[in-house]
Amino acid sequence: RGASSLQQESRSSTASDIDEYADVDWDNLGFGRVIAGYMYTMRCSRDGSFEQGQVTRHKTIELSPLAGVLNYGQGLLEGVKACRKANGSLLVFRPDQNAIRMRIGADRMCMPSPSIDQFVDAVKQTVIANKRWVPPPGKGSLYLRALLMGSGPVLGFAPAPAYTFLIYASAVDNYFKSGLPLNLYVEEEYHRSTRGGTGGVKAIGNYAQGLKATGRARSMGFTDILYIDSRENKYLGEGNCSNTFLVKGDVISTPATNGTILPGITRKSVIEIARDIGYKVEERAIPIDELMSADEVFCTGTAVLVAPVSSVTYQGKGIEYRTGVESVSHQIYSILSGIQTGAIEDVRRWTTEI
Ligand code: COI
Repeated sequence: RGASSLQQESRSSTASDIDEYADVDWDNLGFGRVIAGYMYTMRCSRDGSFEQGQVTRHKTIELSPLAGVLNYGQGLLEGVKACRKANGSLLVFRPDQNAIRMRIGADRMCMPSPSIDQFVDAVKQTVIANKRWVPPPGKGSLYLRALLMGSGPVLGFAPAPAYTFLIYASAVDNYFKSGLPLNLYVEEEYHRSTRGGTGGVKAIGNYAQGLKATGRARSMGFTDILYIDSRENKYLGEGNCSNTFLVKGDVISTPATNGTILPGITRKSVIEIARDIGYKVEERAIPIDELMSADEVFCTGTAVLVAPVSSVTYQGKGIEYRTGVESVSHQIYSILSGIQTGAIEDVRRWTTEI
């Protein structure tokens, strides 16, 4: 169904205008608390082609207990953000990049994937259907979660015989509850990824393994963990849901995406912005010891955007970093969020206007 039939449904069921806002406390969004009303689903037939997708009300999905995603973790996720511009139009940030990343991940996980056009069209339809859940300017964004999964039944270990692509959405604000700079713990026992593993794609299975270490760090008062490489326990990695950057003088460094680091779309955008404003950006293996002498550390991701780090604890030693309006991360955050919300001219044409 198109946006026009949803509009009719909304008018008849609530007698309210589609342009009105949903009944949401926009000052207390948090992350994942407010689920938007509609979702998009597209199924892939056995011949590997995706059929016409559908927007429906957000609902529980039915899966065979034998589904590939449930039994063997054959699935990928993507996060995309849409913001409301001051003039009321909606801007989606780089959905084509998520589409490309999903296609690369699908190849790694032996799944068929929507084309770039199908993915971007699905994102647009989901945003239009959920227009009333896109927060007012300055209050946050609509976070779209795309999933691609082996939904067909498979008991012996093999690719699933059928696939489902879906997008649901949530009105969100700060990813981390406090909204304060992050206080991170360097995790040395558990690792996010290994060489030859799936750390370089957004596989669903990359995430749950981090719950144990994260819970342990949170119980010690840390906001989140920072992973290090699994081979030598020596090089800086990323967080559960963000890439990591260090600032030292006028050089900004971030771990190179060598197959164990997720090629974040915010990461890639931040690198371009940082170069634009005169910083030298290095993508390389960063010995964890460099954390000791950095001026700043910050994390980037769709959900966290650009999150300053106030301290990192490594082997019992806490190091503090510059944060606040004078920081480089704040400067980059302002530019990126300005582009995403339409406050700054989008010279690179990163946003898609709806
Ligand atoms: C993101 O969309 O930024 C993510 O990395 C997913 C995360 C919230 C688990």
